[in-house]
Amino acid sequence: MTAARTTVVDHIGLLVTNDPTLGEGPLGVCRNVALVIADGSVIAIEPAGGVAADERIDAGGRCVIPGFVDSHTHLVFAGDRGDEFAARMAGAPYQAGGIRTTVDATRAATDHELHRLTAQRRAEAARAGITTVEIKSGYGLTDRHEARCLHVAEGFTDHTTFLGAHVVPIEFEGRTDDYVHHVCSDMLDAAAPHARWIDAFCEVGAFDADQCRAVLQAGMARGLGGRLHANQLGHGPGVQLGVELGCASVDHCTYLSDADIEALAGGHTVATFLPAADFSTRQPYPDARRVLDAGATVAIATNCNPGSSYTTSMSFCIALAVRDMRMTIEEAIRAATVGGAAALRRPDLGRLVPGARADLVLLDAPSYTHLVYRPGVPVVHRTLAGGIVIGGSDHVGN
Ligand code: NIG
Repeated sequence: MTAARTTVVDHIGLLVTNDPTLGEGPLGVCRNVALVIADGSVIAIEPAGGVAADERIDAGGRCVIPGFVDSHTHLVFAGDRGDEFAARMAGAPYQAGGIRTTVDATRAATDHELHRLTAQRRAEAARAGITTVEIKSGYGLTDRHEARCLHVAEGFTDHTTFLGAHVVPIEFEGRTDDYVHHVCSDMLDAAAPHARWIDAFCEVGAFDADQCRAVLQAGMARGLGGRLHANQLGHGPGVQLGVELGCASVDHCTYLSDADIEALAGGHTVATFLPAADFSTRQPYPDARRVLDAGATVAIATNCNPGSSYTTSMSFCIALAVRDMRMTIEEAIRAATVGGAAALRRPDLGRLVPGARADLVLLDAPSYTHLVYRPGVPVVHRTLAGGIVIGGSDHVGN
């Protein structure tokens, strides 16, 4: 048997392991080290300069962090809603119904075009340091189009999510219960072979708690894991429903009551914040401090989609969380890495420790603080997934 080929990322000035037992503070920071990789996984952390390996990447004193785990995106879509965004900035409210505009454009796109657009966005996310993405359907809303969107998504991630219950499509106008029945039966049949998760949009203007419960339970009965869009535009039953059903994550959590926070703290459901959506829809930012102090697990994700959050910049989301949601820089970085991994139930991601997947980001900075300190500046030098370079400012193909 031949020995596995090894790679060393050497001369790391500051390494974020996300394991407090391995280094300083909540991020488990180690200084002047080398990270040794074999077969796509981290095998050791050693003092800098002393490791022999088949391949060497010189970090040149840079800070290295775990790759971002983006646990909420809608990357498969066609069309543009820049005008809707401009109207919002001039005072118009965000409405769930805008989703239908993207449904029309997505249905009209060819398979090739949908794949090309998704690949472009995935590459943009890799340049921003994202090593894992969850991708939802939800802009097809027929059996064929939902299956098609999930099939495209499968080309980019294992974490595909069936979101037939995103909004009621025009052909079911006024017949929401009929549509929910269809999502739970024929559409689920078409989508389930391509999906790992099931999701629903629990909100006024989308689906109520009973409808979301029916959709999630139908998906779970087919072996899909649950996730839920909850409490985005106002208070509602979504967060507590998600916890009750054992969802891996409830996402948005912009409006949280004390009872919602108590439920999150007492359950195993991650509270995923999507601050770029609050930015782009002019919602108030949630107070993450209350959720953290209650002991719940939190994640931050980009929610990249054409309506409420057209960004792949996790560092922008981290900056908003620190500036406006009362998270410390360390809490926000953990939320965007190991928190996202918890939201996808992937204990092998989000940490740089022996045994974990070698997903990492070299920052063009001496410290992770620069992710927040230099807002709007691309500070990602290189992104590696499974030890292979997939993006960054010096990556050929960018
Ligand atoms: O997560 N809230 C529902 N779905 C997306 C927005 C979709 C859209 O407006 O196109 C979200 O914000």
